[in-house]
Amino acid sequence: MSRKIIIDTDPGQDDAVAILLALASAELDVLALTAVAGNVPLPLTERNARQIVELASKPTPVYAGCDAPLHRILVTAEHVHGKTGLDGIPLPDPTHPLQARHAVDYLIDTLRAHPPGTITLCPLGPLTNIATAFQRAPDIIPRVAEIVLMGGGCFEGGNITPAAEFNIYVDPEAADIVFKSGVSLVVMPLDVTHKALTSRAWIEEMRALGTPVGHAVASWTDFFERFDTAKYGSEGAPLHDPCVIAYLIDPSLFTGRHINVEIETQSPLTLGMTVADWWRVTDREPNAMFMGGVDREGFYRLLTERLGRL
Ligand code: RIB
Ligand code: CA
Repeated sequence: MSRKIIIDTDPGQDDAVAILLALASAELDVLALTAVAGNVPLPLTERNARQIVELASKPTPVYAGCDAPLHRILVTAEHVHGKTGLDGIPLPDPTHPLQARHAVDYLIDTLRAHPPGTITLCPLGPLTNIATAFQRAPDIIPRVAEIVLMGGGCFEGGNITPAAEFNIYVDPEAADIVFKSGVSLVVMPLDVTHKALTSRAWIEEMRALGTPVGHAVASWTDFFERFDTAKYGSEGAPLHDPCVIAYLIDPSLFTGRHINVEIETQSPLTLGMTVADWWRVTDREPNAMFMGGVDREGFYRLLTERLGRL
């Protein structure tokens, strides 16, 4: 029986690889993609999402959601992802239609329509859509099976500020709502994703697939990694968002701890920081499975095998 998931996303080359991994994997039933403003503005993230499902030749419904954080001005990341958010390879204009319903309405309606505990939410961007749905319809919160998200950092610090990771930083109030919601939470922070670095060899493996998907993934990764290798001096770039989907397929690839994680929403200096009580020095209730390690080779083996199916 495949696991029903909704991917909330701000594509983003790494979002794109995560979405392709999910669409290629029979363990997962991707009910829909819900687009949110993040890496680039919403008109681009929803368009990119439609291009990705077309590239995978899967008729997955795409919904557009929130175009700005709950209470703040949108911060984007064109410096990382390029002007379109999917720079690296030109893709045809999408013909796959955008659903008319707002993504937040879709999330509420779908969680109400399915039995409790049957849908997993997979946020790969700022948590604005999820938090808005929870605020508008608190009755759906206990109906969510689990939230597996990419966001935050502990020993790795931040990537958009010294203290904060981008997805949390863009909408810290939304993240605070999600982390306090009581929903079972699995967090893929920079501590994990910075260990899931691409390599020349893997990018060439993608190109060697000889498929449109392999060519796109190689081109996106080539583009995406130029920023991180310059910034960190590392060979290869962190494939952040695919860690979420890889966890759903094979959780044994990851290690972590069930700890308390809270979000800084006040301090200008550390806004958006995930304050992770890794050493359990407080008596704050654990609320998240916060990942710290990944089997990098196993992760890339899984990616190559699954993307080769598309
Ligand atoms: O900080 C990394 C996260 O921000 C990833 O989800 C990437 O796609 C961007 O959204
Ligand atoms: Ca993302």
